[in-house]
Amino acid sequence: MEFNHKPVMLDECIEGLNIKPNGIYFDGTLGGGGHSKQIAKRLAEGGRLIAVDKDAEAIIFAGESLAEFKDRITIINDDFKNSKEILD
Ligand SMILES: C[S@@+](CC[C@H](N)C(=O)[O-])C[C@H]1O[C@@H](n2cnc3c(N)ncnc32)[C@H](O)[C@@H]1O
Repeated sequence: MEFNHKPVMLDECIEGLNIKPNGIYFDGTLGGGGHSKQIAKRLAEGGRLIAVDKDAEAIIFAGESLAEFKDRITIINDDFKNSKEILD
């Protein structure tokens, strides 16, 4: 399965997030994982990314493309409107 998607304003987002290696981040629209990959690359010990998408196909695709970061990413098939419950 292909997920042809160019992450929008990727550099601006990553710059704006000013990622801390031990920080906790939430991506509510994981999609193909473009933004999530750049966040995960900047995380270290204690850093965490919770990534959500309501589309099961996106979850499968992004899960594969983000496999190398599975120690610091939690991928969830859900709607971001449930972010409070997810993060709790
Ligand atoms: C434009 S893509 C995101 C692309 C991603 N940032 C990337 O870099 O690959 C938008 C994604 O948001 C998901 N989405 C849209 N509304 C959503 C919602 N309410 N909850 C969770 N995911 C949602 C869609 O399934 C789609 O995969």
